[in-house]
Amino acid sequence: MKYIFGNWKSNKNLNGALEWLKDFGKVNSDNEIVLLPAFNLLGAIYEKAREAGFVLGVQDLSSMAAGSYTGAVSAVNLEGMEVKYAILGHSERRHHFGETDQDVANKVERALEAGLVPVVCVDEEYIFSQAAALEQSQLSKCMVAYEPLSAIGTGEEMSVKKVEVVFAQIKKVFGEVKVIYGGSVNPDNVDEYLLVGDGVLVGTASLDAKEFSALSK
Ligand code: PGA
Repeated sequence: MKYIFGNWKSNKNLNGALEWLKDFGKVNSDNEIVLLPAFNLLGAIYEKAREAGFVLGVQDLSSMAAGSYTGAVSAVNLEGMEVKYAILGHSERRHHFGETDQDVANKVERALEAGLVPVVCVDEEYIFSQAAALEQSQLSKCMVAYEPLSAIGTGEEMSVKKVEVVFAQIKKVFGEVKVIYGGSVNPDNVDEYLLVGDGVLVGTASLDAKEFSALSK
């Protein structure tokens, strides 16, 4: 079984999300199709999404437990919505919000405490530093997404050869974890990436239901 993540990022309002679900219809795949809506949409659509056969995830998670942390979304806030995955340390979080390897490590800890599967995003340069910020015992509990900056949202996907090399590096450092690739994945190139890894993380091509359906085979 492969894992296909659709990351809507901060796109879509409630109507747009509901339309998308209608257009997509039922999940018809042996793979796990994971939807990552914005936090507010998650609450509004999780039942419909689950009924359609999607698994749910979040795009981030507070590094704090529940408490007086205005604006943050903790693992407790997600309870009752059958969330399985938390994408952590996406390059957009690191770049626009200043997240460090240590911040991501704190989030991994919160995710694991809450029984969520952390999907740690890395580019080549910080595979080692990110792993070093994690406890040894946490490494094998993560899924790792190779997300080369040059390929995210650019239409310039990384070559499969290179992805294979980086997957091997990740496994050297993290152990036998599941590895997925993200960066300009679309219905035409998805098969190549599924052949060499455990799945894909899709941004732009997940925004259109028909396009995401075409690659969620
Ligand atoms: P993209 O985004 O598919 O638009 O390149 C991928 C990602 O940010 O994970």
